[in-house]
Amino acid sequence: MTLRTADGPHLLVLGIGAEGWAGLTCSQREELLQADVVLGGARHLAMLPDVEGQRREPWPSPLREALPGLLGSLPAAAQVTVLASGDPLVSGIGTTLVELLGAERVEIDPAVSSVALARARMGWSAEGCAVVSVVGRPVELALRELAPGRRVLVLSSDETTPERLAALLTACGYGKSTLHVLGNLGSDRESRHGGCAEGWAGESPRLNIVALELAGPAEAGWAPGLPDDAYEHDGQITGRDLRASALSRLQPFPGEHLWDVAAGSGSLGIEWMRSHPSCRATAVEPSAGNAERARRNAHRLGVPGLRVVNGPTRDALADLEAPDAIFIGGDATCPGVLEACLDALRPGGRIVVHAVTLETERLLATALAERGGELTRLTVENSDASGSSTGWGPARTVTQWHWTRPSS
Ligand SMILES: C[S@@+](CC[C@H](N)C(=O)[O-])C[C@H]1O[C@@H](n2cnc3c(N)ncnc32)[C@H](O)[C@@H]1O
Repeated sequence: MTLRTADGPHLLVLGIGAEGWAGLTCSQREELLQADVVLGGARHLAMLPDVEGQRREPWPSPLREALPGLLGSLPAAAQVTVLASGDPLVSGIGTTLVELLGAERVEIDPAVSSVALARARMGWSAEGCAVVSVVGRPVELALRELAPGRRVLVLSSDETTPERLAALLTACGYGKSTLHVLGNLGSDRESRHGGCAEGWAGESPRLNIVALELAGPAEAGWAPGLPDDAYEHDGQITGRDLRASALSRLQPFPGEHLWDVAAGSGSLGIEWMRSHPSCRATAVEPSAGNAERARRNAHRLGVPGLRVVNGPTRDALADLEAPDAIFIGGDATCPGVLEACLDALRPGGRIVVHAVTLETERLLATALAERGGELTRLTVENSDASGSSTGWGPARTVTQWHWTRPSS
C-alpha cells in the first residue's frame, strides 16, 4: 500500500547513533523538542527527555501492515520527527517511509551508519565488502555471498546471530572463516571479539554487526549453470547447460520477478535470485516432495526468500504476483497453463519453455507460428567412460521456445 499524496505532514527522519541524545547536535535536539509528534522504536523514544503535550508513538507491530494506519492518523499540519538508528536509509525505516509517502514528504538527516563504523574498525573499503541484512530474516541470506576471500558485513537480528552464522558456515565447508563481532559501535560499551566459525564460542551483545572473512571452497558462483550436484534433486533437474541457456534468455534484471513453473528442485528460480539480491522468484510445483526439496535448496544456496507454491499448476498460477519473466520446465501441455502464463506476461516480459515430448513440441511450434520468438534445439553430450575408452553420453534433446512480449 502506498500513501503517496501531497496531503499529510512532512516527516523529518533523524538518524541517531548509539550514544543517543548525547550525540545529537543542538539543532537536532531543538527539532525533537519542538516536534508535535515523535515516532520511533521504544529504545529510541526512551532516550528523550519529557516534553509536555508531545505525542510519542512507538512503532506498531507488525510494522509494515500497521504503518499506513499510523501515518494516516497524523494531523496534516503536525510537525513530525521520526527517530531511527544510524543512517535511516541503510536497512532502516527511512526506506519504508519513502516507499509509502514518496521522497517529497520525507526528509532524511542521517547519522553515521553501523556499516560505516564497522568498515572503519576493520579498515575495509565500501567497494571491497558486501553488506547483508539478516535483521528479522533468515540467516541463510548470507550464504549467497560464499566465496573464498570475500569480506561480508552482516547486520544481525540479535545476540544469537553470530552463533547461528558460525554454525551455518561450518556446515557449508566454510568453518575456517573468521567472524569479528562488533558490538554497540560508537557507544562507550563498544566491544569486539573474533574467532573461527568452527568451534565458535563466546557471548555476543544484542546490538552487533558481524564482519566475516570467508575461507572455504569455490563451489557456487553467480553465473547461471551451477553444477547439478549443487542441488538436492531426483534426477529430473534441468541440467546445468540447459539452465544456463534458459537464464541467458530470461535475462534477470535487478528487482524483477520470475515464475518458475513445474519448478522441480527449484534450480531456475534459485539461480535467477542469485543473479542479484533484489531479484525475486516464485516456484510453482505440484509435488509436495519436490516443493520441500526446492525450499531446502533455496536455503542452502543463500536465497531463502524463494516463494514455493505447492499445488496443481493451473490453480497455483491464479493468485501470483505478476511476473517479468516465466520459465516452464514441465506441465506446458496441462490445459490452460501456457495460456495463463502468456496472459500474465507484461510487455517486455520474457518466456522460455522447454519441451522433451512431441506433444509439447507441437504446442511450441504453434506458439512460434502465432507469436514468433525463437525455437532452439539443444543437445548436450558429456564425455563418459566406455570400458577403457571415453565416449559421448547424450542427454535427451530439448526443444526450447523463447519469446519476448513486444513492448507496444
Ligand atoms: C535495522 S538495522 C538498522 C541499521 C541502521 N540504519 C544503520 O545505519 O546502522 C539494525 C541493525 O544494525 C546493526 N547496528 C545498528 N547500530 C549498531 C551499533 N551501534 N553497533 C553495532 N551494530 C549496530 C545491528 O546489526 C542491528 O541489528
